[in-house]
Amino acid sequence: MRTIKVAVIGAGFMGSMHASIFAGDPRAELVAVVDRDTARAKAVADGLGGGVRVYGSHEELLANETLDLVSICTPDHLHLEPALAIAAKGINLFVEKPIASTLEEGRKIVAACQASGVKLGVGYLLRFDPRYYKARELIETGKIGTPIHVYARRNSARTEGPKRYAGTLPLAMHVTVHDVDMVLWMLKGQTPVTAYAQQTEILLGEMGTQDTLAGVVRFSGGTVVTFESAWSLPAGARHMIDARLEMIGTEGSFEVQCGDSGLYFADNQTSREIDTQHWPEMGGKVGGDLRIELSSVLDWIGGADCHVATGEEALLSLELTQALVRSADTGEVQRFS
Ligand SMILES: NC(=O)c1ccc[n+]([C@@H]2O[C@H](COP(=O)([O-])OP(=O)(O)OC[C@H]3O[C@@H](n4cnc5c(N)ncnc54)[C@H](O)[C@@H]3O)[C@@H](O)[C@H]2O)c1
Repeated sequence: MRTIKVAVIGAGFMGSMHASIFAGDPRAELVAVVDRDTARAKAVADGLGGGVRVYGSHEELLANETLDLVSICTPDHLHLEPALAIAAKGINLFVEKPIASTLEEGRKIVAACQASGVKLGVGYLLRFDPRYYKARELIETGKIGTPIHVYARRNSARTEGPKRYAGTLPLAMHVTVHDVDMVLWMLKGQTPVTAYAQQTEILLGEMGTQDTLAGVVRFSGGTVVTFESAWSLPAGARHMIDARLEMIGTEGSFEVQCGDSGLYFADNQTSREIDTQHWPEMGGKVGGDLRIELSSVLDWIGGADCHVATGEEALLSLELTQALVRSADTGEVQRFS
């Protein structure tokens, strides 16, 4: 298989890790890193050794490079423009979750990729966590029977998400959406019928974000799902992410437990768990489910099957997440036709 030429747009928190993973994969050549802050892009490129070019915009990138895959890691509301330009050039796309900040923009991205016949994958990395993957397999192989109830929790410390995203990205769009995608993937064949949620802004309201979301969704097959998300745990909370997914079915049940990362550290200043799940750095290389995800995307570009979230699936998770937010805002049950 020939080398897959890749570029990453957005050299921030996620983009720098995408760039590192692609640069270290023998099947790929990381051709360029793009950021409107070119100093940031240069720092990422320099950190990966020589040969990675730097651009300040996707227009410059597309004018200068021949590419097989572009990964978009700009903030959610800035996915659309580069995505449309890349799809129009016939280049495959990987877009960080959620596909966009509005359904309208997400639909435009999906339509543009369909029109030009390029692949579009969306970054729901829990699909590549072996625990969630194997749990879904239990459903697929009939061991759970008909799903009756699901509980999906994702709680983290106030010192993490709100610090980075408060004011720009609601809790639900950043956190809950991961579990929404996972639940929709697990309950394939069922569609949401009603959604109800409440949110609190007791602690973080003045930072322009929510503390918690509690939601209940009823699905077409009768399954009821409870979502619980919070990024308001105290700074000293033991967990990096206290995530859990439990399912009770007619034939069996399972529990995915990610609250305990397996590595707890404490000293005189701090006390916390260290990431062993999403993007642990090992020997200078980013590992975890992010690496498995991007590696699988490279296989996919090379022609293999891949269970990366499709654009259409990402629209469904965005739609349900937005319905939960709308319900919390209005106090009304949201009904899907
Ligand atoms: N999969 C996950 O678990 C996960 C976790 C965190 C963030 N994300 C998603 O990843 C994406 C990026 O988030 P982040 O935390 O890395 O953000 P970030 O703010 O750290 O980085 C975004 C970068 O994009 C650059 N940028 C903005 N507009 C640009 C443009 N038009 N062209 C080029 N560069 C531009 C900014 O200068 C910045 O360096 C978001 O969609 C976010 O929701 C996913």
